[in-house]
Amino acid sequence: MLVYEIIRKKLDGERNTHEEIRHLVTGFVRGEVAPEQMAAWLAAVYIRGLSDEETWWLTEVMAKSGRMMDLSAIDGIKVDKHSTGGVGDKVSIIVVPLVASAGVPVAKLTGRALGHTGGTADKLESIPGMRLNLSEEEFISQVKHIGCAIAVATEDIAPADKKIYSLRDKTATIASLPLIVSSILSKKLAGGADAFVFDVKFGDGAFMRRLEDARALAESLVRTAKLAGKKAVAVLSSMEQPLGHAIGNAVEIAEAIEVLKGGGPEDVRELCITISALMLWLGGVVTNTDEGRSKAMELLNSGAALEKFRQLIAAQGGDPSIVDDSLRLPQPLHKVEVISDRAGTIARIATKQLGLVAGQLGAGRMGAAEVDPTAGIVVLKKVGDHVNFGEVLAILQSSKPIDGEIVAKVKASFAFGESGEKPPILAGFVQ
Ligand code: URA
Repeated sequence: MLVYEIIRKKLDGERNTHEEIRHLVTGFVRGEVAPEQMAAWLAAVYIRGLSDEETWWLTEVMAKSGRMMDLSAIDGIKVDKHSTGGVGDKVSIIVVPLVASAGVPVAKLTGRALGHTGGTADKLESIPGMRLNLSEEEFISQVKHIGCAIAVATEDIAPADKKIYSLRDKTATIASLPLIVSSILSKKLAGGADAFVFDVKFGDGAFMRRLEDARALAESLVRTAKLAGKKAVAVLSSMEQPLGHAIGNAVEIAEAIEVLKGGGPEDVRELCITISALMLWLGGVVTNTDEGRSKAMELLNSGAALEKFRQLIAAQGGDPSIVDDSLRLPQPLHKVEVISDRAGTIARIATKQLGLVAGQLGAGRMGAAEVDPTAGIVVLKKVGDHVNFGEVLAILQSSKPIDGEIVAKVKASFAFGESGEKPPILAGFVQ
């Protein structure tokens, strides 16, 4: 089969066959197809697109390019969730134990901070002793034992995605819908779950800034997952402002614990209840999502979800006493308040900018330095809140001194208006 011909067909707007896509991708992973040939095909896909079937074939071959987790030893319907990435997104830390406490097994592979977005693995590693690099045996045995586990995805999960993503990054072909779908879903399929809830974010702090682009991504993720024989639904959630108040690592764990105790910020609680309800429904323990919502609230209010989180931490070597006293989490050496020099109502928050600042303070992976578990931002004023002159907008924290330039950047991230509506966290569902 001629790679030249596979590329030519896509450039001319024709469809590729299953066999052609398999030949191209496996050849590229083995080093038999030249990067310039793969780059030409990716550019052709960027311009011409892929049909649903082609997207599924690409996803499948990418998933099978590495280890496929076999979760069949775990009883029940295994449900996973995936977020397209955001600022202050601590949803997995809450919903994994919550859903597991209802008897739905959750085997969650997760990632680290990327760009302006945080990573669940980095957040959980701020818990003293907590281990995220579990072997496949440890991972499966823990889910069998306590109903959930969260581990960092190893290099052998969908290695084709790593090679293709790196080429897309160099050739300006990241923003192609079928390439994004195959990238996300190949890793999820390799994780071995039976059903998925996708949290597709839109807005300033999201990968997809426009709601209509996020909806197209959600629809394609759900359609392709169904072609793979999986149950799948998606929620569209706002990243027009940070989720909750905390952005960072240990600060986000502390906020997640508040939600697991039945409190916490309303937007985080609402999104977690919605996603949990869908996971409980897909997992077959409730017959509809209204019942799922009631069940999720009951598990938060009764302390069952919190108890499961305690078990999850202990099983992975962490100190579960942080649940009772969040001051046992690493504490910052430096804290600086960002003070408002005007009165008014917050109209917008430059969310991506706050994510980048949290990274600069040490919470992310943008520099050569190690991730600082104490670094982050506590956003005290959100969109629609009234602010008086001299009130605190946000608190910055880090293990290193915080300079005035960073404080100015955060202050400039809050835009004032005459009045501001409190924006809803959810903008729709796709199933
Ligand atoms: N996230 C991914 O995992 N892959 C993409 O291509 C884009 C976002």
